[in-house]
Amino acid sequence: MNVLVLGSGGREFTLAWKIAQSIHCSQLYVAPGNAGTDLFAENAELSVNDFAAIGDFVINNDIELVVVGPEDPLVKGIRDFFLADDQLKTVAFIGPGKDGAQLEGSKDFSKAFMERYDIPTAKAKTFTEDTVEEGLTYLENCNFPIVLKADGLAAGKGVIIAETLENAKESFRSMLVDGQFGEASKKVLIEEFLEGVELSVFVLTDGEDFVILPEAKDYKRIGEGDTGPNTGGMGAVSPVKFATPEFMEKVKSRVIEPTIKGLKSEGIDYRGFIFIGLMNVAGEPYVIEYNVRMGDPETQVVIPRIKNDFIELLVKAADGKLKGYTLETSPRFAATVVMVSGGYPGSYEKNKSIQGLADVTNGLVVHAGTKQEDYEVLTNGGRVLAVTGSGDTLEEALKMSYNNVSCIKWEDMYYRKDIGKDILRLQLD
Ligand code: AMP
Ligand code: GLY
Repeated sequence: MNVLVLGSGGREFTLAWKIAQSIHCSQLYVAPGNAGTDLFAENAELSVNDFAAIGDFVINNDIELVVVGPEDPLVKGIRDFFLADDQLKTVAFIGPGKDGAQLEGSKDFSKAFMERYDIPTAKAKTFTEDTVEEGLTYLENCNFPIVLKADGLAAGKGVIIAETLENAKESFRSMLVDGQFGEASKKVLIEEFLEGVELSVFVLTDGEDFVILPEAKDYKRIGEGDTGPNTGGMGAVSPVKFATPEFMEKVKSRVIEPTIKGLKSEGIDYRGFIFIGLMNVAGEPYVIEYNVRMGDPETQVVIPRIKNDFIELLVKAADGKLKGYTLETSPRFAATVVMVSGGYPGSYEKNKSIQGLADVTNGLVVHAGTKQEDYEVLTNGGRVLAVTGSGDTLEEALKMSYNNVSCIKWEDMYYRKDIGKDILRLQLD
């Protein structure tokens, strides 16, 4: 089977890497891909939002399975574009249509959805340009910290946690009145702050049935000890000790099942990944957000733990045949450490030559922001590599990952040295 993966980051590298191992894989394309995907797949120069060019490529290359990595094309309706075309509508497709993608594309939609189906989440109220004054008054009666969320996609930056009323009012105005996040902040949610530990849970659904993939914890802040600004993710581990069978059972019955049923009852035929960002508040799961794709860097630790043939799993989801499917996961631990360009998540330089990649002999070096030029691999983004290790214990997995990180160098690189340490501390307690 010929397969196309859309995207160019570490998530897409890992999805493609797993697909390449399937006995069903003939020709594998990643569009646009990076220097790493070029090693085991063919990169295709396509923009993920150029649906017409992607459609032509799929037809011309006899692609039978399309996997969409990032949310943007899904929110913009790539699935709907495929369904509207006689030749493309039969292609197995992983990713929801515009209707389902609203779970991530509109926080106002997803909050109302959760309320409709009694899915536990933080209380929130939505305001617009016309209700700025009401919002400011509402803030006066809130407890702090408080969370402000832009309704639409804001490249992971649309959430502000305000510690004081003054900060909250200022941020609220700049989001709604000054258009801080453009179209995305035309609506703003004021949301109750949840105190707890975060967990990323992943589901693959065919619209009716679902499988729960291994859970993960990611490390979003740039600085050690979870300090400094948020990033796209500085590392991840899986499994996660505090995701006990008892907690995961609650996640299944209170969050996952009502989500799948809710989508169905709204007539949304959702075939793809759902990434549920959860807060564990004193043992109870609360949804912080839905994403309509896999997480990054969580994918780099979740996917390697899946034992099943990946194309088989994806095609079953796309074809509505997940009923009775058993996911087999490895009990081994996986850890990934993200190596970034100095300055990230602020401004940083690209085109630095990466040394030492060939010195890594075990584990998996996932390319996220790289490009090949002549015989050199160059940095081409903020998050450059995600170095995944595995082991019978989390310590072993982290050791492999950090050993491999120490082989790799470029001018002005940075990585966190404390990935997984909080969980290791929990294990000692
Ligand atoms: P999001 O863009 O929705 O993933 O939010 C970014 C981050 O903000 C999350 O990963 C949480 O760390 C934090 N966050 C979002 N909503 C809340 C909330 N209601 N309470 C506490 N933290 C939150
Ligand atoms: N790791 C968080 C995300 O992918 O959004």
